[in-house]
Amino acid sequence: MAVILKTPEEIEKMRTAGRLASEVLDFIAPHVKAGVTTGRMNDLCHEYMVEVQKTIPAPLNYAPPGYKPFPKSICTSVNHQVCHGIPGDRVLKNADILNIDITVIKDGFHGDSSRMFFIGEPSIQARRLVDVTYECMWLGIAQVRPGARLGDIGAAIQGHAERNGFSVVREFCGHGIGRSFHEEPQVLHYGKAGTGLVLEPGMTFTVEPMINAGRPGIRELADGWTIVTKDHSLSAQWEHTVLVTPRGYEVLTRSAGSLAPPAVVPLAAA
Ligand code: MF3
Ligand code: CO
Ligand code: CO
Repeated sequence: MAVILKTPEEIEKMRTAGRLASEVLDFIAPHVKAGVTTGRMNDLCHEYMVEVQKTIPAPLNYAPPGYKPFPKSICTSVNHQVCHGIPGDRVLKNADILNIDITVIKDGFHGDSSRMFFIGEPSIQARRLVDVTYECMWLGIAQVRPGARLGDIGAAIQGHAERNGFSVVREFCGHGIGRSFHEEPQVLHYGKAGTGLVLEPGMTFTVEPMINAGRPGIRELADGWTIVTKDHSLSAQWEHTVLVTPRGYEVLTRSAGSLAPPAVVPLAAA
């Protein structure tokens, strides 16, 4: 299967889906605090998506080949959990770091975005990991323009992570997105500049680096979904869905509560 270029009409639907995914994160942000369970966050987000937005939570019952259906509507990954954490009875406590990953379907199209949250006061290391990971995502996004190559994105992310003493998770990557949750291309968060697929206007994909404070190795828990660092070091992730435009990129998963790009990133060329 080849990369699917989106038409102007499809891009408009991707903009809507992207904004809605980001608005779920805006909605849940004030509820993220010590004493609340990840399951409660799931229930609040589910209700908001289904009842207020009239969107479909894409994770719910999502079952790619080799996986059992994902049982919840959002992913919540705490501390050394890398991604795909299943919301449940875990109670958030002071100094935890949490990734909430939201994917909605609206009018047949997907929007996929995740953010990190601090519960109370993070450790100095946790804050640095979360900040550097945010910069990694944006440095990757800033590579996006027609004629650039996927390896440029991976190299920018890997370089910044490793210069800061952190490591890049290799087993999971960004992905094309549209009518499908996951489609071509695979967007690796490591690699060599000047290699890989050449970007073209109309491509839509995610950039979602998972960066570990320790070694890059991961393992999967017995629940069949939750990914953790093998060495139990902290892990962080941020995710945006982006469009390749004729002059650069457009971040589709933006809303009123989106964080501004970090200072290390040159101004966007839309
Ligand atoms: N949202 C994740 C991603 O960024 C995928 C989650 S799949 C699920 O690709 F089933 F765990 F929800
Ligand atoms: Co994604
Ligand atoms: Co996601």
